[in-house]
Amino acid sequence: MSGRNVNNLKLIIAVVFVVSICFLVASVFGFNYFQGLPEESYDDETDDLTVIGFSQLGSESLWRSANSASIQEVFQKDNGYFLIFNNARQKQENQIKAIRSFISQRVDYIIFSPMTEEGWDTVLQEAKEAGIPVIVVDRMVAVEDPSLYTAWVGSNTEEEGQKAGRWLEQYVEEQGYAEEPLNIVVLQGTLGSTAELGRTKGFNTVADEHQNWNILKQESGDFTAALAKEVMRSMLQQYPDIDILVSQNDDMTFGALEAIEEAGLTTGPDGDIIVISFDAVREALELVESGKINLDVECNPEQGDFILEVIEKLKHGETVEKYNYVEETVFTQENVSEQLPDRTY
Ligand code: AHR
Repeated sequence: MSGRNVNNLKLIIAVVFVVSICFLVASVFGFNYFQGLPEESYDDETDDLTVIGFSQLGSESLWRSANSASIQEVFQKDNGYFLIFNNARQKQENQIKAIRSFISQRVDYIIFSPMTEEGWDTVLQEAKEAGIPVIVVDRMVAVEDPSLYTAWVGSNTEEEGQKAGRWLEQYVEEQGYAEEPLNIVVLQGTLGSTAELGRTKGFNTVADEHQNWNILKQESGDFTAALAKEVMRSMLQQYPDIDILVSQNDDMTFGALEAIEEAGLTTGPDGDIIVISFDAVREALELVESGKINLDVECNPEQGDFILEVIEKLKHGETVEKYNYVEETVFTQENVSEQLPDRTY
């Protein structure tokens, strides 16, 4: 081999060596980073703590931020817990990666709020085989075997949809136009999520009882203000005679209200369009009070204490209810003002 070839060979070996070292370092120290997980990890300091892995589906709404805060507030070190929080940024694949990472870190409990209902059997089976109890929160999972999760904490979203329908029934009766044709558009949340499925089903159950309720269109705004504004704008162009907007969360309502105002229309008890919203976050309740939103059906994000209670019981070997519903109410101009001062989110 010539001297030049030997030098080239040495160079190639050196490059391969350096690249291999880089991969090794990245795989050991950068694992969490590549998984999209916080780099925070736990070690000896957690010996006396109960370690919880929490996969939150995203941060798409004010409701979601309040939900994350509620869970983060209760699972604190001075309470005996160490929480590993992962934000999946609205991607199911990120949630699956996070849950697998929790399993490999051998956490004591997994909490997760699933994006949509389908697609969890395999990863939940892995958690079960690892002996890690899973608490599903907020939205539900549709799995073949319900023993894949220990308990669920959240809202009855079908009942929320029904509450909206029953309120509308009574409202149009009181206003004296219960028998007139009513044109309705629905801004749906993330398709396939429990909040969307339940609210759609609940409202449609009531709508089906009224031949004069015309659902002109149901379209997803993905629970975000920006997309809902676009969808509402095109609905207004397509249907100039909308009487009622049902918007499946407050963030979408904020976007839709902008589109409605830009179209020169008004909303609320004295407006052109009746607006029904869901969640009842503070900013939306202020719009109920000021007369821009007619009804806000509460979806309670403060689930931290309920989840804590479930986990405390499990830690003490007690049995827990499989399904745990949080309490919720509805807000109109009649009752909103007394509630607003105490609203924490
Ligand atoms: O699953 C609960 C829903 O998800 C809330 O209504 C919405 O605001 C959130 O994004």
